[in-house]
Amino acid sequence: MNKLFFSVFCALLLSSAGNAAPAASSSSSGTSTVSAVAASSTVPLASDDPNGIAWNATVDGDTDAQPIRGSLGAQIMGPQNVPLQQLNPDAVAPPTTDAGSVPNFKWPFSMSHNRMQTGGWARQQNVNAMPIAKTMAGVNMRLEAGAIRELHWHSSAEWGYVIKGTTQITSVDNNGRNYVANVGPGDLWYFPPGIPHSLQGTSSDGEGTEFLLVFPDGSFSEDDTFLLTDWLAHVPKEVVAKNFQTAISAWDNVPSKELYIFPSDSPTSDEAVSDPQGQVEVPFSYQFSAVAPTQYSGGTAKIADSTTFKIAQQVAVAEVTIEPGAMRELHWHPTQDEWGYYLEGTGRVTLFASSGNSYTLDFEAGDVSFAPATFGHYIENIGNTTLKVLEIFNTDVFQDVSLSQWLALTPPALVKAHLGLDDETISKLNKTKQVVVGRPSS
Ligand SMILES: *[C@@H]1O[C@H](CO)[C@@H](O)[C@H](O)[C@H]1NC(C)=O
Ligand SMILES: *[C@@H]1O[C@H](CO)[C@@H](O)[C@H](O)[C@H]1NC(C)=O
Ligand SMILES: *[C@@H]1O[C@H](CO)[C@@H](O)[C@H](O)[C@H]1NC(C)=O
Repeated sequence: MNKLFFSVFCALLLSSAGNAAPAASSSSSGTSTVSAVAASSTVPLASDDPNGIAWNATVDGDTDAQPIRGSLGAQIMGPQNVPLQQLNPDAVAPPTTDAGSVPNFKWPFSMSHNRMQTGGWARQQNVNAMPIAKTMAGVNMRLEAGAIRELHWHSSAEWGYVIKGTTQITSVDNNGRNYVANVGPGDLWYFPPGIPHSLQGTSSDGEGTEFLLVFPDGSFSEDDTFLLTDWLAHVPKEVVAKNFQTAISAWDNVPSKELYIFPSDSPTSDEAVSDPQGQVEVPFSYQFSAVAPTQYSGGTAKIADSTTFKIAQQVAVAEVTIEPGAMRELHWHPTQDEWGYYLEGTGRVTLFASSGNSYTLDFEAGDVSFAPATFGHYIENIGNTTLKVLEIFNTDVFQDVSLSQWLALTPPALVKAHLGLDDETISKLNKTKQVVVGRPSS
């Protein structure tokens, strides 16, 4: 046994000797085993304070957003950004369980610089906006009907989720096999690293399309991709003409700089050009919207990873719904970071970073969250409407560890020795993952 730990341990035993049953120690035997000691005889019990949110504007209309929690805190006397305070009860009046320092893990797309073009816009979150998110970056993009995100490629893979409308994607792989598809709401696409592609709003609904892109690289920037027009504008025309075996004049209408997003006519077909090499071996899109979710007591979940969407070797997703008052259970992901995107509703998340560090923040539709691999967390629906969130990972196969399942499958005496639970509570631990748990029935 570590000497320092042992002496602290002895000191604690001595100090508690007056009010705790004597705890047996086998230290005299010279081995390092110490028999079970009630947690209360070494450290005080955790507070009974439920530590719910300090106010909830959406649920009960309480809009007095002040840093007050019980006897702690006081009214703000200086300048206030009341709308922002109302949306962030756990930043303004944190639960007393929060402690230490955990880096910021929230980024609202509403605060991203927006790159506006004729035909649409793009805004991004990468490591510059949220430094903790080293392994993934996201882009929210809008294309009016017909508008094109121009033919391009980049070193990172690209994973897409359609939020509204229909996006037409095109691609050609390194073996000259092509792919075209119309991708609708709730459906996915994936382009492997370096494979060229385009995105275009269709007229299937008159408004065009909006989607989320995720890249398994936190320093990805949407402004640093390789664009068709940018390349041709930066190669001598003599070389371009020779490459394509044409006269230089055939290239008179090439733009002088990149187009990036530009208006055009809506595509009239989703058929790929006839290809002597055939189509890509596995589809670059996936009808995730057609996958039936699994129902849990507090909501639903469904997963798309390389076991079903085979091309998606570097990005996996869980689409989760959580009913009001329910929560995505306490869990962590063993090796992969989680990049979250809130589609609907209001959630409360505490990120536990070990060593007594934890930080609680609140999320709204359009916000990005981040949970590093192994950091314990949950998502509680603190609003009045269904919460819908995407949990996205830079991995091939989704994995999580459930706290509740772990305890249910551990010898009960061992669990009891740690947590002092009674037999009834222990017997209710469920051996299957609960994933999204409802409000307690009582
Ligand atoms: C709303 O806030 C009140 C305190 O103002 C709290 O008691 C209640 O549990 C909160 N409701 C939810 C759903 O968090
Ligand atoms: C949310 O639900 C509560 C309880 O059902 C209700 O009293 C309240 O008016 C609702 N708030 C909104 C904004 O719908
Ligand atoms: C455990 O959860 C499953 C659903 O995941 C449920 O069918 C079962 O009844 C639960 N078992 C107990 C002991 O609560």
